[in-house]
Amino acid sequence: MVSYSSVAVDRRASWCQRMVDKPHTPDLRDATTAELSALLGSPPALALTSSCTHALEAAAQLLDIGPGDEVIVPAFTFPSSANPFLIRGATLRFADIDPYTGNVDATSVAARTTPRTAAVVCMHYGGVAGPVDELVELGRSDGWSLVEDAAHGLFGTWDGRPLGTFGRLGAVSFHRTKNISAHEGGALIVNDPELVDRVDVALDKGTDRARFEAGEIPAYDWVGIGSSWRMSDPHVELLAASLAQRDAIQRRRHEIWQSYRSGLSSWAERTGSRLPHIDERAEHPAHLFWISLGDGLDRDRVVEACARAGVPAVRHYSSLPDSPYGQSIRHPEDDCPAASAFAGQLIRLPLHHDLDDVAVERAIEVLHELN
Ligand SMILES: Cc1ncc(COP(=O)(O)O)c(C=O)c1O
Repeated sequence: MVSYSSVAVDRRASWCQRMVDKPHTPDLRDATTAELSALLGSPPALALTSSCTHALEAAAQLLDIGPGDEVIVPAFTFPSSANPFLIRGATLRFADIDPYTGNVDATSVAARTTPRTAAVVCMHYGGVAGPVDELVELGRSDGWSLVEDAAHGLFGTWDGRPLGTFGRLGAVSFHRTKNISAHEGGALIVNDPELVDRVDVALDKGTDRARFEAGEIPAYDWVGIGSSWRMSDPHVELLAASLAQRDAIQRRRHEIWQSYRSGLSSWAERTGSRLPHIDERAEHPAHLFWISLGDGLDRDRVVEACARAGVPAVRHYSSLPDSPYGQSIRHPEDDCPAASAFAGQLIRLPLHHDLDDVAVERAIEVLHELN
């Protein structure tokens, strides 16, 4: 008798073998890159990368960040907003956040700016736009480069313009937790035309392989500094398949997000909890639904009660300057009280296009039962 698991293993093995045997598929890569680029308003260049983290590493390299440079990152974000700059020897400064959005606060960025500031990272939490107008203006007057960590931001806009296209460089994620997934993957968005020529070399391990593949040169060589940051062909296939379902994915995500919002607004008011604030100039991608719990609600108790009811409510990032590594490198003046409070009281409700209405209603019910 053939067991289920051996069938699954055979299927998996044959899929993997097909992927290994497959010829390189530049057409699908080009088509997927073009599709994504169109969704992002056709920036000067866009490249598919192995992750958002790697896109941010490429961004740090393209900006020639190095020792002596300071880079300001939001206190409330994933470590990938910070590591790419540390890897290159920069010093980090942490800026505090706006507790109504979880996004970096432009006033705090201005307060951390010094003549050594080379770059500022704006992470758009949940794909809701950070203060891009203020940051673009500050960057222009103070001479630093804006980098957008738009890991959550695909389909998010500010004043109708896609997130990831305001900074000199931007990055999005196609990790399996994101709305559109390649299981692992990302994209680098290059908005400064002056950087475009260096992108391929940086992503192709320091070689001019892209020019060779385009038939422009007979052989490729080592021409600069770079790493292995391109998305692989099997991941491009996964990304193309996921992108093809984007309308259905986004429709369902927005339905769930709206149900949470309308089902919880009276409860949030009663308990002094905060739900995401969406400015009328922003469109968001329904990437996540967060709640900043009111003072009377103990987060551990809320998470436990949800778990008992089968609702996987989870925390999110800690404030980076409070984290074990953050504490070891933080500047003594980089207190970020709003980020500490926000991170400490935050939960996220389950949000995925496969989630059914019963699960959504249950999550709303459990919170109402709590208070
Ligand atoms: C804000 C932020 N930036 C970057 C990343 C890293 O993305 P990736 O897993 O594609 O490297 C994440 C991961 O979820 C994230 O939340």
